[in-house]
Amino acid sequence: MTALYPQGIDMDRDGEREAARLLGAERIVLQFPMQWYSTPAVMKDWQDKVLTRMGYIRPDTEGAGLSGKPVMIAASMGAAEATYRREGRNRFTVAELLVPLRATVNRFAMDWRDTFLLYGTADLDAVALANAGRDYRDALSRFATSPIVAGAAR
Ligand SMILES: Cc1cc2nc3c(=O)[nH]c(=O)nc-3n(C[C@H](O)[C@H](O)[C@H](O)COP(=O)(O)O)c2cc1C
Repeated sequence: MTALYPQGIDMDRDGEREAARLLGAERIVLQFPMQWYSTPAVMKDWQDKVLTRMGYIRPDTEGAGLSGKPVMIAASMGAAEATYRREGRNRFTVAELLVPLRATVNRFAMDWRDTFLLYGTADLDAVALANAGRDYRDALSRFATSPIVAGAAR
């Protein structure tokens, strides 16, 4: 996304294209590396411009069109899973840190699906990386073939 929008995202020009991509998609995968327990700055820019445009400025013609679309979050964390526990260094689980995104999905009446979370990317060797790639491919294919249920937002 940084390569696509090196100057940042323009709500009108880029927002129109991004909104059209979302509205044209049957399912949406939001893939990002966790940065400071949140989405990276470029994705926050995307949220601020594209979702604001769709949800607040054009709620009827754009925002409403997201209703019912399945959404899968695919996030990678540099730190190990054990750190994302009450007693761990990061104290909060990734599921807890993802609550703002889950609230956003809810806000658009989209359908929150199982997440794909890859931990410990700072320490992945070639074998672990290959396994993670295979797991991600399988998760994507389950997501892509799962039924779309009307009114399934949860
Ligand atoms: C600015 C910055 C902030 C980061 N913050 C976190 C963090 O809060 N938690 C974490 O587990 N990893 C954090 N990381 C590590 C990234 O999540 C990790 O490098 C990424 O998942 C690897 O995927 P990539 O190769 O696609 O960037 C951060 C990395 C950067 C550059």
